Amino acid sequence: MKIVIENDYASLSLRAAEIIKAQVNGKPESVLGFATGSTPIGTYCELVKMYNANDVDFSKVVTFNLDEYYKIKKTDKQSYYHYMQTHLYRHVKFKETHIQDGEAADHAAECIAYEEEIASHGGIDLQILGIGVEGHIGFNESGDEFIAATHHVKLDESTIKENSRFFENENDVPKYALTMGIKTIFSAKKILLLANGANKAEILQKTVHGAITPKNPSSILQLHPDVTIITDREAGKLLV
Ligand code: F6R
Repeated sequence: MKIVIENDYASLSLRAAEIIKAQVNGKPESVLGFATGSTPIGTYCELVKMYNANDVDFSKVVTFNLDEYYKIKKTDKQSYYHYMQTHLYRHVKFKETHIQDGEAADHAAECIAYEEEIASHGGIDLQILGIGVEGHIGFNESGDEFIAATHHVKLDESTIKENSRFFENENDVPKYALTMGIKTIFSAKKILLLANGANKAEILQKTVHGAITPKNPSSILQLHPDVTIITDREAGKLLV
């Protein structure tokens, strides 16, 4: 695993955006995997600036998001569909963008269709990940097994608590989600994991140096051939 420790959130975001830009400039028809949450917001902001400065062209790029709450309406301000529109898709023209349908009547069929759609594009070239304080990637929660494919998942109490900061009330946080599985994430040729803030330091240390176990889903990244972790100084403080 390649580890890059930046001074602060701003330089972490710029560094990540530079890597995404280099990927797209090197392969204009790249398939990108995107994450939501607070961490990549700065990266998306940098991508919008690069796009407006004509430093990068996303018109041949196809994107797939890691996860979406279930059930949630696209129009709900807390949906990841809405998040992606707000932070990126409203500002930047992509060829195609995909996210699991949080309103699908049949979640199992939706997950199968999502896997097929990714496969039909030849898999993901570069996947962006954040990390939960308990080690989740996407919504692959801490548990007794790794789940390979895109699936319907019950969110952990810790995730609901953590994500309640985005909602008015903890009870409003959806209890379920649809998420890429570990094999889906591993289909990516390159993975870029972003983490900032002191509350991510311990889990990052376990991700890089700890046992490979589904109790800490992020630990499986030790087995992927091309992972870069970018942190700010606080999140990376136990890695040096
Ligand atoms: C989001 C996702 C999650 C987040 C993680 C960290 O699409 O899949 O795994 O990346 O919960 O969230 P933040 O960045 O808000 O700390």
